[in-house]
Amino acid sequence: MATVLVTGGAGYIGSHTCVALLEAGYEVAVLDSLANSSAAAIDSVGEIAGRRPRLYVADCRDEPALDKAMAEVRPDAVLHFAGLKSVPESVADPIRYYRHNLESTAVLMAAMERAGVRRIVFSSSATVYGEPDLLPVPETAATRPANPYGSTKLMIEQMIADVVRADSRWSAALLRYFNPVGAHPSGLIGEDPEGVPGNLMPYLLQVAVGRHPHLPLYGTDYPTPDGTALRDYIHVMDLADGHLAALKHLETSPGQTHTYNLGTGQGVSVLEVVAALRGATGHPLPYEELDRRPGDVPELWADPGQALRELGWSASRTLADMCRDAWAWQSTHPQGFRGD
Ligand code: NAD
Ligand code: WQD
Repeated sequence: MATVLVTGGAGYIGSHTCVALLEAGYEVAVLDSLANSSAAAIDSVGEIAGRRPRLYVADCRDEPALDKAMAEVRPDAVLHFAGLKSVPESVADPIRYYRHNLESTAVLMAAMERAGVRRIVFSSSATVYGEPDLLPVPETAATRPANPYGSTKLMIEQMIADVVRADSRWSAALLRYFNPVGAHPSGLIGEDPEGVPGNLMPYLLQVAVGRHPHLPLYGTDYPTPDGTALRDYIHVMDLADGHLAALKHLETSPGQTHTYNLGTGQGVSVLEVVAALRGATGHPLPYEELDRRPGDVPELWADPGQALRELGWSASRTLADMCRDAWAWQSTHPQGFRGD
C-alpha cells in the first residue's frame, strides 16, 4: 500500500484527511509546524483510525527537516495542506503571506524533487475565483482573487503546473475547496480556530457553547431569497474522500495537472446555516444584523461535475450531517484541543 506525507496534517482539514487515508490502508506521516494546531489532533487521529501517524514537528521551509522526513518516510506522494489561511491577516500583512505560502511550497517541491517524489495534491481554494461571472462556477471560470491569500493560492497553482509542464514525471491535483465545515462523526477531531473565528460555522458553534453572546450577521440585503449570502458548505469528510480520489487518479496520470472544485454544488444562505445548526444544537443562536463584510461576494457555489466525471467523487453528506458532526466535536471540546 502507498505511503503519503501530509504537510499541515495536524490542522483541521489535514487531520480529517489523515483519518480517511489511514482507514483506506495508506501509511501516513505528518509534517506540521504546529503553528496553528496541536499534536493532540494527531493522537486523536490515531485513536479513531487505530494507527497513529508519525509526526515531524517542522516547518515546510526547513530544508534539512524536509530532507530527513523524505528519507525516512519515502513517500509515494505528498498532500500539501500546510499554509496560512486568514483572508484579513493576508490583507494586513501581504508580504508575510506571500513569503510563507509560496516559500513553503517551493522549498517542499525542491525537497520532493531531490527525493524523487513527484506526486502532489495541493489545498487550493474557491477564493481563486473572486466574484464569479457565472454560477455554479466551473474550473474553467476566470480566476481573479480579491485578496493576497487568494493570490498566493493562484500563484502556487501556477508554480505547480509549471513544474509538471517542465518534467512529465511529476503529476499534480489542485483541489479548490469551497466552504469546509463539520467534523469527524466521532467528535474526537474538529476545527479549532485560534482567537475569535472569522468563519461562520466555527463562530456559530462558539455561540452555542456560550463563548460569544450572538453571531454578527454580515449582510441581509444581498440579492438572494432571504437577503443573506450564499455559499457551498461541504462536509470535511467528503473533502477528505475527495483527496483520496484525487490521489488515486494521480497514480495513473503522470505528466498531468488536474484542477478540481470540491463542493456540493448547492448554494446555502447564512440564515439556512443558522437554522440547521439550531436544529442540531437546540440552541437559539441569536444574531445581530450588521452591514456586509467588506470583500464578501453575494453568492459562490461550485460546479463539481468535473470531479464526478474524472474521479467518480461527489459529496454525499447533508447540511444536517455537517451540523450534527460539528456539534459532536464542539459540545465535547468547547475550548477545542487547547482545553484538553
Ligand atoms: P489549518 O490552519 O487548520 O491547517 C494548516 C496546518 O498547517 C496547521 O496545522 C499549521 O500548523 C500547519 N502549517 C502552517 N504553515 C506551515 C508550515 N510552513 N510548515 C508546516 N506546517 C505549517 O487550516 P485548514 O483549514 O486545515 O486548511 C488546510 C489548507 O486548506 C490550507 O492550505 C488552507 O489554505 C486550505 N483551505 C482551507 C479552507 C478552509 O476554509 N478551512 C478553504 C480552502 C482552502
Ligand atoms: C460565510 C458567510 C459571511 C462569519 C472564507 C474564505 C475563503 C475560504 C473559506 C480558505 C459570509 C457570513 C461569516 C460571521 C457572518 N477559506 N458570516 N458572520 O467568506 O465564504 O470564505 O472561508 O480558503 O477563502 O474567504 O466563508 O465562513 O467566512 O463566511 O455573517 O461571523 O457567512 O459574511 O456571507 P467565506 P465564511
